[in-house]
Amino acid sequence: MFEALEMAPPDPILGLTEAFKKDPNPDKANLGVGVYQDDSGRTPIFAVVKKAERRMLEAEASKSYLPMSGAPEFATAVQSLLFGADSPIVASGRAQTCQAPGGTGALRLAGDFLKNNLPGARLWVSDPTWSNHLGVFGAAGLEISSYPYYDHGAKRLDFARMMDALAAVPEGDVVLLHGCCHNPSGMDPTMVEWEKIAAMVTERRLLPLIDIAYQGLADGLDEDAAATRLLSGPGREALICSSFSKNMGLYCERVGALTVVAATAKAAEPAFSHVKIAARQNYSNPPYHGAGVVATVVNDPALRAEWEGEVAVMRERIHAMRRRFVDTLQAKGVTQDFSFITRQNGMFSFSGLTKEQVETLRQKHALYIVSNGRINVAGLTPGNLDRICEAIAGVL
Ligand code: LMR
Repeated sequence: MFEALEMAPPDPILGLTEAFKKDPNPDKANLGVGVYQDDSGRTPIFAVVKKAERRMLEAEASKSYLPMSGAPEFATAVQSLLFGADSPIVASGRAQTCQAPGGTGALRLAGDFLKNNLPGARLWVSDPTWSNHLGVFGAAGLEISSYPYYDHGAKRLDFARMMDALAAVPEGDVVLLHGCCHNPSGMDPTMVEWEKIAAMVTERRLLPLIDIAYQGLADGLDEDAAATRLLSGPGREALICSSFSKNMGLYCERVGALTVVAATAKAAEPAFSHVKIAARQNYSNPPYHGAGVVATVVNDPALRAEWEGEVAVMRERIHAMRRRFVDTLQAKGVTQDFSFITRQNGMFSFSGLTKEQVETLRQKHALYIVSNGRINVAGLTPGNLDRICEAIAGVL
């Protein structure tokens, strides 16, 4: 039965990692997948995570199942980060959080929830968006359209066209918004623009689906949640998918969450019951370890402070590499203005490199970049920057 099957197309991001691993070139660099590397090119385990794991090893008393919605102490941690520990959203009970296997698992839960409970709703994603949004929501059976987001010529957010498009989205549809560190463009709306987006969402009676996978990597953990908090304000409804892959380095532990924000605590309960069904039908209930780490760190003031320090180091290294990237390109003789890279947030830089240039960089220099030109700035190090900029200057 399997002999007639053709190979599936490689994934645009993780397929690159597969090809990278097979490449024998000792100078190869993977600037594809959004994984943080330190100055020496390693993806270390946070010191605070190791500390939490030691505590957990001593304290853990059972391996029995978690509830379908995951560990309650993890939900508390997620809400305190998304909304702030003293937030009225938390106190009111109108937000309910379901642990999920990674941010991607949370997106799938959201997709199933929408498909099963808001059957006529179409999902609107930014153009461009993370390639797997189309995969995950398509697999959940949603109809997907896009709204303009990025001005490729001016290298900035195309706010006017975005708002014009949102103004025409039919009532009751769902709009996917990147809470911070837009993937892949790195260009986020300003707070003034977010206010306008939030007003539009309310006026058009749209449901925001917020994907926030990089909280803490732009300006700070609280600062980066500002748009999410605004869109979850009094009387508003939202679905929020969050992740600890990047900001706690828990990639392989698969720790994410879907938070349902309803207008009232009463309305949150039935909505959340459908999320639990989606979890049950997909994987029954989630694994504990990563969620336990998050809860141990975030719910303990001393560990949390330590974690915030480690996030700040990561954020500052990325900011510094952005500046050095721009300066080094210039030093290598590139005449185009790449200063826009310093205005982008998060791990990624939407470089403007074409598909053909990306292909040449891979074949000639063993440099792996997503075909849409997205570069993982967090993969640049003092050791590889020179060679990478020289190669880019060559293809430009
Ligand atoms: C990325 O965009 O590189 C990350 O979100 C990792 C992934 O799963 O694609």
